[in-house]
Amino acid sequence: MGNSFAHESVMLHEVVDWIAAHQPELIVDCTVGGAGHATALLNALPDSQLLALDRDSEAVRVARERLSRFGERAQVYHARFSQLETVLGVNVGRVGALVADLGVSSHQIDTASRGFSFRFSGDLDMRMDRTSGQSAREVVASVDAATLATAIKELGEERHARRVARAIKAERPTTTEELAAIVRRNVPAARDGLDPATRTFQAIRMLVNDEVGELERLLLAIPKVLADGGIAVFISFHSLEDRSVKRALRDAAQGCICPPVIGGCVCNNRPSLEILTRRVVRPGSDEIARNPRAASARLRAARRLERTR
Ligand SMILES: C[S@@+](CC[C@H](N)C(=O)[O-])C[C@H]1O[C@@H](n2cnc3c(N)ncnc32)[C@H](O)[C@@H]1O
Repeated sequence: MGNSFAHESVMLHEVVDWIAAHQPELIVDCTVGGAGHATALLNALPDSQLLALDRDSEAVRVARERLSRFGERAQVYHARFSQLETVLGVNVGRVGALVADLGVSSHQIDTASRGFSFRFSGDLDMRMDRTSGQSAREVVASVDAATLATAIKELGEERHARRVARAIKAERPTTTEELAAIVRRNVPAARDGLDPATRTFQAIRMLVNDEVGELERLLLAIPKVLADGGIAVFISFHSLEDRSVKRALRDAAQGCICPPVIGGCVCNNRPSLEILTRRVVRPGSDEIARNPRAASARLRAARRLERTR
């Protein structure tokens, strides 16, 4: 399993450079996956400790194996973003650097039985954590057509969402092949050659894993978990995720949320973060040529401002 867990880490040098510049004592990797970023960080920062998490127990097993050579310096937990503060315990407020490389790993997508991809035949599962929650088959069977259509429209940006949702509800797919066939029958072929099933698969995956809610909870925890001067680095692969990251960092950097008509501040919110990436950072053309999955990656970073005592 360890060696067959294939995932090429995206923007690896950028992540290491951003974090190494801060020389953190404690690093948190919220998305350890195949431990690519984690390994590079532990190699680059020999005095740092790493605390890592992933909601996927297969990733946790592989990451533990791959990071075992770092001994006590690395600890890996089976947990979700929304459990970060619980995992951190006394380390809340002491995190020197945090990385979140969002979305799914290549290993998850390329394992047919996980049901993430229309390129392979498999059960319609799509759970990142197969130990809990409802599979995609159960989710599409249990939500109503309107909810499904909204998810496919908003999370997949699919223009034909209502028609697709109605067909899914009528035909109740149980495999990736059945779902892909339903979408292809209901969405006209795209000129750019993109498989019409792409957007619907992405939307249902995000719905099954509550990816929007998980990210929101992680973003809310950032100012609390970081130490003064600590840095958070996010890599997103979806415009919706990147917008959430951008908005959360901007709000935390702004502090005051009083409407301008008040003419002063009554909320007393103070800025907690400083945005380090004035513009979003994208992978270089070399990386995209080597790893086409990096093409949609967007990196943003922010630093915790000093708490006022
Ligand atoms: C793009 S991969 C990370 C790859 C990793 N950075 C590497 O270099 O190998 C994203 C990982 O995040 C995990 N993940 C996604 N959402 C999560 C959440 N809410 N909580 C914990 N882990 C999550 C996925 O299970 C997946 O393993």
